[in-house]
Amino acid sequence: MVERLKNFINGRWVDSRSDRTFISLNPAYKSETVAVAPDSTMTDVDEAVKAARAAFPVWSHIPAPRRGEILFKLAELLTRRKTALGKLVTREMGKVLPEALGDVQEAIDMAYYMAGEGRRLSGESVPSELPNKDAKSVRVPIGVFGCITPWNFPTAIPAWKLFPALIAGNTVVLKPAEETPACATKMIELLEEAGIPSGVVNLVHGFGKTGEALVKHPGIDGISFTGSAATGRRVEALAAATHKTFSTETGGKNVIIVMADADLDLAVDGAIWGAFGTSGQRCTAASRIVVQAPAYDWFVARLTKAAGRLRLGDGLKSSTQMGPIVSKAQYERVLEYIAVGKREGATLLRGGRPCTQGECKQGWFIEPTIFTDVKPGMRIAREEIFGPVVCLFKVETVDEAIALANDTVYGLSAAIYTKDVNASARAERDLDTGLIYINASTIGAEIQLPFGGTKATGSGPREAGGRGGALDLYTKWKVIYRDFSGALQRAQIDKE
Ligand code: UN1
Repeated sequence: MVERLKNFINGRWVDSRSDRTFISLNPAYKSETVAVAPDSTMTDVDEAVKAARAAFPVWSHIPAPRRGEILFKLAELLTRRKTALGKLVTREMGKVLPEALGDVQEAIDMAYYMAGEGRRLSGESVPSELPNKDAKSVRVPIGVFGCITPWNFPTAIPAWKLFPALIAGNTVVLKPAEETPACATKMIELLEEAGIPSGVVNLVHGFGKTGEALVKHPGIDGISFTGSAATGRRVEALAAATHKTFSTETGGKNVIIVMADADLDLAVDGAIWGAFGTSGQRCTAASRIVVQAPAYDWFVARLTKAAGRLRLGDGLKSSTQMGPIVSKAQYERVLEYIAVGKREGATLLRGGRPCTQGECKQGWFIEPTIFTDVKPGMRIAREEIFGPVVCLFKVETVDEAIALANDTVYGLSAAIYTKDVNASARAERDLDTGLIYINASTIGAEIQLPFGGTKATGSGPREAGGRGGALDLYTKWKVIYRDFSGALQRAQIDKE
């Protein structure tokens, strides 16, 4: 069944003014069209932004607990439709159904969490230094947010952006990834069903130029972007030039450190999950594994064997453990990186080829790929590949492992497997990443804590979480002093 999608502007489902469309495909069966979506123009973006601006004064004045009730209802709708939505995620993006259901669950978690935040959104009330005067800070919404989301978490990441934006009183224009327009549309349909007022949430489908029109639009106050590092830098520059608040989350070169004393079976499981879960298409995916010398040979052999046992195929089949690559462009990009690794002189230990056997011949599948003899300067060791490709390194000490882990422009997620409390403490202190896991893999961050990283991983406040995370992106502070003394009181001025 092909979904005919529309934009959602000011509470109405409409076609693009351009009348142009594009399609999303099922990456497991590339001849299967999942959806046809409007390719939006600057005019569509302009109409969406104007609708969001017009809705802002009313929405921002609705008490936050009432706004929360809509998100609470949405959480219940998402829960009821979880299976159907999960299957759509698998069809449109490729990840295996249990992971697709996890994607939806992350959206459900965020809806409940932010619904509850409607009864907090707290600032501070502090004593004034003067009598008969009070002093407090309150969170106020920023205005209209442009949210640009990637294809790899096609329900969770829109949820990460929309729900905190909405609970804080902002209105939103969403531009989802062109690979997954149907998943984003379902989220908006459910928001409509949950009772979101017209204009508060708007949806414009399209490619980079639609996103760019959103980022440049003078009617937008803030941008939240998740995607590639190159686009992220561009978003930052454009947003800064037009005085917009922004947050970008743009990738990683995440590492798992395996110390020789670790539970090595557990470490192998964690490495398989981190490197090949979602076919490596997570910004938290483990793309480097650093193993302490005494465990290296054993670990490499076991990892290679386990990777070889992974069953590739259609993610809707319960026997499948690893799905396809999302699109032809990504598939070619990953294969190109594998070719680069070989040219650079790394040893391709296993995989490295398209998987074309059986049901895989109909989709974009790449075998789980392991490189050894990787030098820290090689491109495959430094650049985000975003596919099922992992590089292995051998080190002697935990300090060497941490130095290697930090030797990257990115800083999203890192993990260490060890039973040595001192090694884990050092890793915790010295790894320069936004997320650190001890005896767990690099993926699977929970929504109640801030998500994001250091260095080139992104700029601006973190996503998810509450205070210290998403609420710091979607609100600004207003400080209010009230003097009820009836006299001129002069702060900081000495009395004669
Ligand atoms: C992403 O890949 O952009 O921590 C998000 C995780 C998931 C989110 C990943 N909860 O792996």
